[in-house]
Amino acid sequence: MRSPRGRGVADLLSDFGHDLPAVAPAVAMPKPARLFSHVGVRGLREPDRGWVAARPPVAAYQMTSDQAPALWPFIAGPGLPPTGAQMGIDVQSGAAFCADPVGWVLRDEIPVTNANVITMGKPGTGKSATTKAFALRMTDFGYRILVLGDPKDEYERLCHFFGVTPIALGPGMPARVNPLALGPLGQGWDRLSGSEARSRSAVVFTRWLNLVRGVVGSQRIGDQRVPFGPNEAAVVRAALERLTGYAAGSSPLRETTIPRLWRALDEPDDDLVAQCRFVDRQQFLDETRLLRNALGQLVSGVLAGLFDDHTNIDVDWDAPIQSLSLSRLSPLGDEAIGIALLALNSWGRGMREVAPPGDLRVVIRDEVWKVMRLGVDAVKALDEDFRLSRGVAGKGGDIQWVNAHKPSDMLTVGDLGSQAANIARDLMHLADVKILHGQKAGVAAELDTMLGLGPQASDAITGWAMQRRGRALWMVGERAYKVETHLHPAETALTWTNEALEGAA
Ligand SMILES: Nc1ncnc2c1ncn2[C@@H]1O[C@H](COP(=O)(O)OP(=O)(O)OP(=O)(O)O)[C@@H](O)[C@H]1O
Ligand SMILES: [Mg+2]
Repeated sequence: MRSPRGRGVADLLSDFGHDLPAVAPAVAMPKPARLFSHVGVRGLREPDRGWVAARPPVAAYQMTSDQAPALWPFIAGPGLPPTGAQMGIDVQSGAAFCADPVGWVLRDEIPVTNANVITMGKPGTGKSATTKAFALRMTDFGYRILVLGDPKDEYERLCHFFGVTPIALGPGMPARVNPLALGPLGQGWDRLSGSEARSRSAVVFTRWLNLVRGVVGSQRIGDQRVPFGPNEAAVVRAALERLTGYAAGSSPLRETTIPRLWRALDEPDDDLVAQCRFVDRQQFLDETRLLRNALGQLVSGVLAGLFDDHTNIDVDWDAPIQSLSLSRLSPLGDEAIGIALLALNSWGRGMREVAPPGDLRVVIRDEVWKVMRLGVDAVKALDEDFRLSRGVAGKGGDIQWVNAHKPSDMLTVGDLGSQAANIARDLMHLADVKILHGQKAGVAAELDTMLGLGPQASDAITGWAMQRRGRALWMVGERAYKVETHLHPAETALTWTNEALEGAA
């Protein structure tokens, strides 16, 4: 290097044969291509590049990443495992939504402790279609379907699909169902020890008393319900114990029927009068008049010929579906259908009492508001089924599925705050899975009060769910999922319930 004022050190050293090393000239590196380029808020003004003429009115919020996940709908709740019936799409996450109530109970991370399901929605919002699709899809996992009373005969198509003939009940029809049937509990008594026989008898008597309480308590005198208190229960129990041979120490129990029970109370013998601690026969007859008249409804009233003899239908419990069609009862009124549903409830329960472990069923009660209207005793019977749905002593354990319209269905059983209304409200809380289809604002507000849904869930029910049949907010424990049930064309045909309307169009 030459100094501006003379020769530099490098020249001097080169005079003596030494060359200083030179710095290599810098090589220019090629510039990397830009991965991102800034695009204005209106987008690129090219075809298909999302250009907008005006900026959308977007509200800006600032929050920490801790608060952001609470913002709906950007982040959906934790998903459910892909087990059970695939129902459709969870629209918040876009993923498939699978329903598996028993599977959910078995997993600790899902806040569900029973496999009871309540569906609610305005008429025509797709409650029954979702029910049928669920039940149908669960058959692939070994479940069988039991429809405990089908007031509109709408499950018949599903039965025919499985090659099963539904059982039709109605005036003039040959089928009889004995609500006091022993069911499978009638078998195998010879293998039971004394104490086992006694505990089995207790199960049977409790079920019968519940039924009689429901039937009697559903009848009215003016605007009062016929009472069924401890006296009535004691009389019915004593009569049943004598009719079945239990009082005489006989086991197995002899099956009896409602007319026999009614006759035993209508023409009481002296032993029964004495056992029930009445002074004389006349007092017995006076005190049990309402009870006898209420029971008489099943023997000679509107429901005569339906529940007043031994069961004469041979139910194939191994068939994939069993359904009892009740549309022929509709001319007799809602109350008659309600009583029939109650009797079937008891009967179905008896049939499930000794179901072997692993015999899984979806037990469907559609149009359950008809039972609700029958009063507190009828609701109690349903309540019991819900409480026992997890199974008893390792047996049973069904998916109990109930369809209603609105929460006040459950509250028509009594005045606000009454025991009946409380039981009905509790019933809602006994179902850990609630499927809420579209509702009007007033009903959504009722649901909000009962279940603490909050504004977003309430809006989903009154807005989004009302826009399409099959849309519903699935409450799985405390978690909410916006689910759209998708039907296969074959299922659409099986679930079609608009024939009457089509005919009118
Ligand atoms: N997810 C769906 N996709 C397409 N069609 C549907 C869907 N859900 C229901 N539907 C159709 O809508 C009609 C009414 O449905 P559904 O009978 O299930 O209503 P509902 O709520 O049970 O009414 P109701 O209270 O009167 O019993 C049916 O014909 C059914 O096929
Ligand atoms: Mg329906």
